[in-house]
Amino acid sequence: MSKVNKSNFWEERYIANNTPWDTGEAAPAFVKYFDKKNLLNKKVAVLGCGKGHDAFYIASLKEGEINESCLQVYGFDFSHSAVKFCKEVKENNNNKNIDFYQADFFDLIKELKWKNYFDFVIEHTSLCAIDPLRRKEYANLIKYLLKPNGKLVGLFFIRPIELGGPPFGSTQEEIKELFKNDFLETEELRHEKCPHTFTGEEYFGVFEKRI
Ligand SMILES: C[S@@+](CC[C@H](N)C(=O)[O-])C[C@H]1O[C@@H](n2cnc3c(N)ncnc32)[C@H](O)[C@@H]1O
Repeated sequence: MSKVNKSNFWEERYIANNTPWDTGEAAPAFVKYFDKKNLLNKKVAVLGCGKGHDAFYIASLKEGEINESCLQVYGFDFSHSAVKFCKEVKENNNNKNIDFYQADFFDLIKELKWKNYFDFVIEHTSLCAIDPLRRKEYANLIKYLLKPNGKLVGLFFIRPIELGGPPFGSTQEEIKELFKNDFLETEELRHEKCPHTFTGEEYFGVFEKRI
């Protein structure tokens, strides 16, 4: 079994503060894409949320009262330290429309509760963190989590897979192929400036789940 499938591998990185992917803020591409209007009353999953920068930013775009149907953000990560950090930030800032779960995101598919649950799934350096042999499983998971017409909003890490990983690179063609059958590419993959220190490129794209 690949080391990246185990939470310990990632947990040790957080404990050693060896987290070169973490820029300390939300990715500028998500800041550009999301606004209060497109997030109104939506449910958003952030897979492999790390220290939650993207998740907290998205949750901050809430409009109106906190109630059952308002914007709700769910961060999932299997690193204990990362989730503990997120929960502390949530408590300190009294954020009411965000929750964090310490879980292997591949297990979400076992819970009926999450089927067709989300309007958006956020992908940011998680696809490149998993064993490349599990990419189809990851695409199926996203399909399971999203409502019909729900959107995968992703920043994909592009570089030759031969360079190894993590982060394991992909090509634009591979990303398109991965989602082609079950999703419509509604915002074509485009290059985005990469603020973290990984050597590679980032591409932003939006894929809408077909009905
Ligand atoms: C490269 S980091 C990216 C973190 C975050 N998205 C960011 O950009 O700061 C990958 C994250 O995915 C988490 N992760 C990897 N595989 C996972 C899995 N199967 N289930 C849950 N979390 C996972 C790791 O613990 C780590 O926090």
